[in-house]
Amino acid sequence: MASANGERGSWNSKMGFILAAAGSAVGLGNIWGFPTQVADNGGAAFILIYLVCCIAVGFPVMIAELAIGRNTQKNPVGAFRALSNGNPLVPLIGYWGVLCGLMILSFYLVIAGWTLGFALEGILNHLGFEALAGTLTDLGNGTKNAVFTLIFMLFTILIITGGVSRGIERATKTMMPMLLVILLLLIGFIFTQEGATEGLAVYVKPDFSTMNGSLVVSALGQAFFSLSLGMGALITYGSYLNRKQNLVESAAYVTAFDIAIAVIAGLMIIPAMYVAQKGGVAIFDPETGALFSSTTLVFDVLPQMFDSLGGFIGLILGFIFFILLGLAALTSSISLLEVPVSYVIDEFSIRRKTAAWGVGGIVSIIAVIISYDLSLIDLFVAIFNEVGLPLGGLMISLFLGYFWKTERAMLEIQEGNPSFPGSTGGKVWVIFIRYICPVLIAIVLVNTLLIVL
Ligand code: TRP
Repeated sequence: MASANGERGSWNSKMGFILAAAGSAVGLGNIWGFPTQVADNGGAAFILIYLVCCIAVGFPVMIAELAIGRNTQKNPVGAFRALSNGNPLVPLIGYWGVLCGLMILSFYLVIAGWTLGFALEGILNHLGFEALAGTLTDLGNGTKNAVFTLIFMLFTILIITGGVSRGIERATKTMMPMLLVILLLLIGFIFTQEGATEGLAVYVKPDFSTMNGSLVVSALGQAFFSLSLGMGALITYGSYLNRKQNLVESAAYVTAFDIAIAVIAGLMIIPAMYVAQKGGVAIFDPETGALFSSTTLVFDVLPQMFDSLGGFIGLILGFIFFILLGLAALTSSISLLEVPVSYVIDEFSIRRKTAAWGVGGIVSIIAVIISYDLSLIDLFVAIFNEVGLPLGGLMISLFLGYFWKTERAMLEIQEGNPSFPGSTGGKVWVIFIRYICPVLIAIVLVNTLLIVL
C-alpha cells in the first residue's frame, strides 16, 4: 500500500528534530527521577557518576541509534532486519525495544496522570471542593488513577495521530520553551524562601562515602532512561531525518540539553524540599533517617510545601509545577508511543491513525491494570528500565561495532558531517562503541542482576 510510506513522515527542520528528541529525553526522569536520586545517593557524587554515564556511554549510543535509524529509514524491528543479512536473531533487538517501549509507556502514563490531579488540587481546595481535591491526589485510588491515565493517553494518541512534523514536531516546539521558562520561574521563587540555600548546599556538596556498585547501576539506568536510549526511540526519530542533518552535533545538543534540564530541575527540587522542611514538613523517613523516596518527595512533600506557602501564590506555583511535570511527561510519552506505532505502520502497512489508536488501546489496558496495582511500577522499572534499556544499549553497541561494523556506520554519519570519520572525535567514538560502552554496560548489567536476584 502506497499509504504506508506516506504515513511515515519526516522532520520539517533541523531545530524541530532536535527539540523533539530533547522533548523525548526531558521528562519525568529529569524532573522527578534525577533530583531525588541525587538526594538519595550522596548529592554531587551521584551527579559526577551520572555525567560520566551520559557522556561516555549515552552519547556514543545515541549517535549509534540515530545512524541506524537514518540509514534504514525504518522502525527498530525493520531497521535491524534491513541490516541483518538474513540473520534471524538480529531483529530481536528491535522486538525487545518495541516491547520495552510498550511496557515503559504503560507505567509512565500512570505517573504522568498523577500530575493532572495534583495540578488541580490547589484550585479545587481554594474553591472549597476539599473532598474532590483529596480524591484527585489519592495515589491509592485505582479508579481515579485509571481515569487520569486514560486522559493522558488520549493526549498522547492525539499528538501521534497528527504525524511526525504536524504532530510531534509542532507539539514539542511549543511545549519545550514553555517548560524551560516555567522551570526558571519556579527556581527564582524557591530561592526567595527560607531553607533554599541549605538545600543548595546538600545538592552541590559531594558525599563520596555513599559511593558503591548500586549507585553506579542507578546512575547508568537513569542515564539510559533520561536520554531515551536502548529501545529504539532514537532509531525511530532518526529514521525521519534527512541526510543533511549532522547526527553527531544533534546528539550532542540533545545530550547536553537533557543533562542541563536535569541539573536545573535538581536546583529547584532539592532546595524546595528544604523549604518544605522549614515549613514544618517531614522530608526524612523517621525510621531510616534517609530522605523520603521519590514518589513521596514529589507527590507528597512538594504539594505540602506549596500549601505551606499559603494563599494564592502557593496555589499558582503548585499548579505551574505540576503542569510543568505533565508537559515534560507528554513530550516523552509521545516518543514511547511512536516506536510501536512506527513498527505497525511500516511492517503491516497500517494507517497512522489506526495504528495509534490500536497500539494506544493495548497500552491503555496494561496501564489501567497498573493504576489499580501500583506495586507493578517497581516491577516494570526493574525489568524494562533497569535491565531492559542497558541490555538494549549493549546489543545496539555490539551490533554496530561487530555486525554492521563501524566503517559502514561511518559512511552514514559522514552524510551531514563529512569530517567526522577522519577526526579525533570519530576515532574516539569507534573505540567507545566497540569497547568502552559494551564493557561498561556489561559490568553494570551483571551488577544489576546481582542486586535484583
Ligand atoms: N526520557 C524520558 C524521561 O526522562 C522517558 C522516555 C521517553 C524514555 N522515551 C523513552 C525512556 C525511551 C526510555 C526509552 O522521562
